[in-house]
Amino acid sequence: MRLVIRPNYDEVSRWTAWYIAERISERKEKPFVLGLPTGSSPLGTYKELIALHKQGAVSFAKVITFNMDEYAGLPENHPQSYHRFMWDNFFSHIDIEKSNVHILNGMAEDPLKECDIYEAAITASGGIDLFLGGVGPDGHIAFNEPGSSLVSRTRVKTLTADTRLANARFFGGDPAQVPGTALTVGVGTVMDAREVVIVVSGYNKARALKQAVEEGVNHMCTLSCLQMHRRAIIVCDDAATEELRVGTVRYFKEILPFSESRQL
Ligand code: GLP
Repeated sequence: MRLVIRPNYDEVSRWTAWYIAERISERKEKPFVLGLPTGSSPLGTYKELIALHKQGAVSFAKVITFNMDEYAGLPENHPQSYHRFMWDNFFSHIDIEKSNVHILNGMAEDPLKECDIYEAAITASGGIDLFLGGVGPDGHIAFNEPGSSLVSRTRVKTLTADTRLANARFFGGDPAQVPGTALTVGVGTVMDAREVVIVVSGYNKARALKQAVEEGVNHMCTLSCLQMHRRAIIVCDDAATEELRVGTVRYFKEILPFSESRQL
């Protein structure tokens, strides 16, 4: 696992967007398959990618996307649905084909079938080239809450009280308004991606980052699964490193220039 430490959120976003744009642009023949998250963490990256697109530096015309998750029971046009989030904050501003966008349907009559179809669609696309993600304060990726199987696939998960509390800010501050379940890719689904890039910003993520980087692989912090991935990068800001050992931070800061040369 590589830790790329930047001074602040804007720099994290810039680095991540540049990295993804490069990956997409260097792909010449088959489409590039990109896994995407929602939440506040990737917003800056989306803004930077939109800017790079407008400058002509990257095209999404041959990009296929799969989003990580969606709340159960929210229609696509609900202001807090992840469908709405993605179109408002990213897809509407780039040259992506609508038919290349995949987001789990939170209103599916048979949610388990919807999850199986999603996994099959990922496989049919050739698998995910790069999965971008964020992390919850308790270390969860997508909606793989603490205790999730580290080999899990796309399925329905019950959200923890902590996650509903953390996401209440988008639902008028009331955790009871946050849906209790979600459809989410599994830890195994993320691990199958050829590359994983996680954005971590702010002190409220510092304990999750410490657990994921310095402690053992543990289903109570599903981000820690990245220790078993061949090609994983966590891009974080200084504030998020607050709980890491000084030596850990120094090591990754010293080797930063090499991350540009892809030596993970
Ligand atoms: C939700 C999402 C995760 C996201 C997390 C953190 O739980 N399902 O994918 O990483 O929120 O969100 P934020 O970036 O807003 O802190």
